[in-house]
Amino acid sequence: MKIFLLGAGGFIGSHLVQKVLESTDYEISAFDINTTRLEKFTGNKRFTCFKGDIFRETDYIREQIASCDVVLPFAGVAMPAYYLSKPLWTFELDFEQNLKVVRMCLKYKKRVVFPSTSEVYGLANENILLEDESPLVTGPVGKMRWIYSCSKQMLDRVITAYGQENGLQYTLFRPFNWIGPGLDTMEDARQHRARSITQFIYDILHRGEIKLVGGGNQRRSFTWIGDGTDALMLILKNYKGQADSQIFNIGNPSNNYSIRELAEIIIDEMKSFPNFREKAERVKLTTISPENYYSDSYDDTMNRRPSIDKIKRLGWNPSTTLRDAVRMTLEAYHE
Ligand code: UGA
Repeated sequence: MKIFLLGAGGFIGSHLVQKVLESTDYEISAFDINTTRLEKFTGNKRFTCFKGDIFRETDYIREQIASCDVVLPFAGVAMPAYYLSKPLWTFELDFEQNLKVVRMCLKYKKRVVFPSTSEVYGLANENILLEDESPLVTGPVGKMRWIYSCSKQMLDRVITAYGQENGLQYTLFRPFNWIGPGLDTMEDARQHRARSITQFIYDILHRGEIKLVGGGNQRRSFTWIGDGTDALMLILKNYKGQADSQIFNIGNPSNNYSIRELAEIIIDEMKSFPNFREKAERVKLTTISPENYYSDSYDDTMNRRPSIDKIKRLGWNPSTTLRDAVRMTLEAYHE
């Protein structure tokens, strides 16, 4: 199988490249504007890499789609701080550029595995989120946080319609707070733009204070990147076509914790690293309002817990606890 992976240098992309090269005989053609994380794979004969901008390299992208078996359009903005500060860029990249890629998949009759997001469920007030039943609820237009959710949701709908009307072979998957080494950069954290786990590690080391937005009672289901990419491997293998025309939540409902609990676990785990201990013992947890931390156009989900019955039927069962995931992430930073 030959995979064309756009956004291969990102968090999910780079972890998936590693797993594919280690555990299969598949070939990967990687594309990204930033290929730093892909340099370590360049000696592998089954790996090729092209550094380029998805907005400009349309001919190259077309050639690659024409000559591969499956397309993974993983290029996108995925940090809430950017949805607020760069909403149009979020729409243009996450929706418009990916629509361009999806249309090429249709034209060349290629299978597409598209990353939707847990954010599509938005403010849905459900105890457990079901792919084919739960409503997708967002806030008012002025709450820019939802432009990412809407962009992804619209593509979910377009891809599904292309499947129904034109026979596009597709799978949609929804990651629920995948975490692990390389999620965000420390530069993002320095500018208060990183996602919670990276932000908290940085804040412990450099600020002595973790700011819990709204007090940190909001809950997420944290998923170890290795468990997440295991699920993607099952989707790629697509035994008996079980993943075709399906949407899968990929998250760990056993790791449903509040953001305050996440901060406490990170602090606790950092105390067992000699270089981090002193700072972890001194850090303070404070509360900040969403308006002051992000802006007036921020809005938030109070809980997000996936049903994973569908992906379990493919043979997946996430096994990594939040504490283990935090420890493994810290080990990577420590190195
Ligand atoms: C994430 C991102 O939108 C995407 O990465 C992705 O599509 C999706 O959700 C996912 O990973 O499933 P969110 O869950 O809000 O959004 O991710 P974080 O930025 O990690 O924030 C989690 C919570 O921590 C939010 O309630 C936020 O307000 C809070 N937070 C964040 C703080 O309390 N303090 C901080 O310094 C940073």
